[in-house]
Amino acid sequence: MSPVPPLAQHASPGGSPLPEGWTARTAMADDLDRAHALVAEDHLDQFGEVDYSHDDMVEEWSELDPARDAWLVFNPAGTLVGYAKLNPRKPHWFECTSTVHPAHRHQGVEAWLVDRIGQHARELLPRSPPGERVLLAHLFNGRNEQEARLLESRGYVFARRFFRMQVEWKAPPPAREPPPGVVLRVFQPDREAAALHALHELSFADHWRHTPEPFEQWSAELRLERFDPTLWFVAEAAGELVGFARAREFSESEGWVRVLGVHPRWRRRGLAQSLLLRAFGELHRRGRHKVLLGVDSDGRSGALQLYERVGMRPVRLIDVYEKDLGLPRLSQGQTCET
Ligand SMILES: CC(C)(COP(=O)(O)OP(=O)(O)OC[C@H]1O[C@@H](n2cnc3c(N)ncnc32)[C@H](O)[C@@H]1OP(=O)(O)O)[C@@H](O)C(=O)NCCC(=O)NCCS
Repeated sequence: MSPVPPLAQHASPGGSPLPEGWTARTAMADDLDRAHALVAEDHLDQFGEVDYSHDDMVEEWSELDPARDAWLVFNPAGTLVGYAKLNPRKPHWFECTSTVHPAHRHQGVEAWLVDRIGQHARELLPRSPPGERVLLAHLFNGRNEQEARLLESRGYVFARRFFRMQVEWKAPPPAREPPPGVVLRVFQPDREAAALHALHELSFADHWRHTPEPFEQWSAELRLERFDPTLWFVAEAAGELVGFARAREFSESEGWVRVLGVHPRWRRRGLAQSLLLRAFGELHRRGRHKVLLGVDSDGRSGALQLYERVGMRPVRLIDVYEKDLGLPRLSQGQTCET
């Protein structure tokens, strides 16, 4: 077991203080269970259900360093009441979330976490490749006005709204034939991982805040214990991959479609619909009648209309507020422009 990190000062550097007697520290690997339990309680309170599984957190903590990027706040009784994390997977778009236990809200923990994560982002800034500005992005429940006001008071601005979409199939979903010349089948990770990575990059090149990802990083998911290639579907035409839908089981009754993309040359022919219905069909066969996914509320990509077309409806809002941290300046004493 790793040694317990030192407890933090009451105040995050330059930020608001914690109440007297409350403490904070960065996380250790074995904090994962309690951090997940806290997030689950927060979700239940805010949304009436939990859509972030223990596996999701395992996956996310594999992308960050909990001892550096995740912060925990404890009340004087030693109970975990707050958690925030910064995911540095994209070197110019740091993704953050913070959570406070429903019984301990509005006592200053929210502000402490936001300030601590902001400070941490500045500390990380010199590690990002130079030449491009770094944005700090906070994701939170779009109906949480207080979180929005808090972030605005710290210089964040509204950037984007995402919808959590949902559909529930009482009967098996209908199938839809792909366009002529296209075959749908299950992904074969041993021989086409590189081709799928290339198609992913091509399909998402114009997507909001997309950052090209090296193959090594993209393919980490293929090595996760829960990776199930029989829920990854690809569309092939004349020996080339032209579309894909990546789904997974979420709970005993729910599935997720995590990513869907179609080669630009093959768009507006019903291919995404065929892939989506194929994924819904397989999830339904496995007892996952409810399917969820996230989509940009900005309709310009066509993804929102596509999901509405297959019967999905928004059930949750996820807002992204951003703050521009400036340019990493490696050559000038590792300072950052703000
Ligand atoms: C979104 C995307 C998957 C759609 O793929 P597609 O194969 O072109 O979609 P389909 O042909 O099956 O479209 C089905 C329906 O969705 C809607 N739709 C799809 N693209 C649209 C667009 N650009 N504008 C408006 N509506 C659109 C339409 O209702 C369409 O039916 P119609 O053509 O009969 O009007 C594709 O544009 C893409 O890969 N975009 C980039 C990646 C992305 O945004 N993925 C989704 C988020 S995870």
